[in-house]
Amino acid sequence: MSDARELFEARDWDAAGRIGRLRVPRAGVTVETPALLPVVNPHIQTIPPRALAEEFGAEILITNSYVLHGSEELRETVLEQGLHDLLDFPGAIMTDSGSFQLAEYGEIDVTNEGILEFQRRIGSDIATPVDLPTPPGVSRERAEEELETTQRRLEDAAAFEAGEMLVSAPVQGATYPDLRERAGGHAADTGLDVFPVGAVVPLMNEYRFGDVVDVVAAAKRGLGPAAPVHLFGAGHPMMFALAVAMGCDLFDSAAYALYARDGRYLTVRGTEHLADLDYLPCSCPVCTEYVPEEIRESDERERLLSKHNLHVTFGEIRTIKAAIRDGDLLELVEARARGHSAMLDGYRALLEHAEQLERTDPGSKGTFFYLSSESAQRPEVGRHHQRLARFSTPETVLLAEDGTPDGEREAYDERWSVLPPFGPVPPGLAETYPLSAEVPDRTDDRAYEAAATGVARVVEANPGTEWTLVCRDWPDAALDRVPARVELVRVGSESTSE
Ligand code: GUN
Ligand code: ZN
Repeated sequence: MSDARELFEARDWDAAGRIGRLRVPRAGVTVETPALLPVVNPHIQTIPPRALAEEFGAEILITNSYVLHGSEELRETVLEQGLHDLLDFPGAIMTDSGSFQLAEYGEIDVTNEGILEFQRRIGSDIATPVDLPTPPGVSRERAEEELETTQRRLEDAAAFEAGEMLVSAPVQGATYPDLRERAGGHAADTGLDVFPVGAVVPLMNEYRFGDVVDVVAAAKRGLGPAAPVHLFGAGHPMMFALAVAMGCDLFDSAAYALYARDGRYLTVRGTEHLADLDYLPCSCPVCTEYVPEEIRESDERERLLSKHNLHVTFGEIRTIKAAIRDGDLLELVEARARGHSAMLDGYRALLEHAEQLERTDPGSKGTFFYLSSESAQRPEVGRHHQRLARFSTPETVLLAEDGTPDGEREAYDERWSVLPPFGPVPPGLAETYPLSAEVPDRTDDRAYEAAATGVARVVEANPGTEWTLVCRDWPDAALDRVPARVELVRVGSESTSE
């Protein structure tokens, strides 16, 4: 166990997402995050770990120490050779503890200390204690009771002599946000090193991405922004951008291999069946060399599909890092949300946590693109509204959307333009982020409603100012939000089209 503050450093931010560096002292490497940890089954290696590093750029992988511990064939070998030699992997190796098997089969034949010691002896770089993955939907009593056990195990893990080995502190609490938040706070207080959010696999299997977002958001509130967060068992690339925007840094993927076994082909928009594909909609080395028929009939089908799945998975991680650098991670999340309605649900849930995302979102990024009515809920819009509440204004102000007539402009001390979804644009700020936004000419009701909220903020903050608002096409739901003392000048669309 080491000091978490020196281990993880977040550099570039976008929403709650970040590009970070996780130092893994025992492996002598630093892993760039967001990172994907391919799950390696020590018994079946369709893609050898060395190829994961050399062909796909994997800096870290995850394997299961409980499987090794229970294997007659591998147990002594791994104790003698060590994990890195056994797997032949040059990067960092994280190990899981058997908790997942415990959740599946109800019991395991190792103790928390026993499996931690085994992980230390085989040379794991990041070990995991035996947490209890409490499934969603259980009673609050059960969730609390199991969380207490998990917390005791984490405290014991914190007292364990781990040497240079890092130790993870899984966050449980089922689907109770207050328990997840408390669990996050407790996990951070243990001083352990990496913080997986656990027991989300059942939610992901049912495509309940909105619930996954709520669980992660709650855990993050407890953990705080400085903690490196792993989303346990999240291997589908379609959800990575969403999870990163929420503040997850590490993912493990068994999906690339499991899906390949039964002919499933991953894309960033969902899963396809190789049997149904006439074309391969991907430009990875596999998909440019083969046509679907050739893969279907190949003896190497599973290996080829695994490779494609890995290319897509690692490719999405790079796409996400590029988006964080460009400041358009939320545009990427939005694009992914359009691939599947369950992802749209996840994005909408994410936006319900806009204030939480806003705390780490940079004040200035690339251009804000308004892409759908969801964009009106983005953290940048709420931040602008808070800022409007701090502006002081002269005696008379004309608020007028661009393109509306403002013939009497001279009668006012100031004229501010109004840009849905932000609302009033203080003079001089039109060219700054996020007000330099690209917005469609044909906007939607949500954008007008958000603009009206902006109007209300600046008006309420300036009771001494007389306000006039010139607006066109605003729906009643937006006009209802405009304070009554604002003089409204409604102009028809046709009046501006000459
Ligand atoms: N793998 C997937 N989910 C979990 C979890 O909740 N705990 C552990 N230890 N491993 C997991
Ligand atoms: Zn491909």
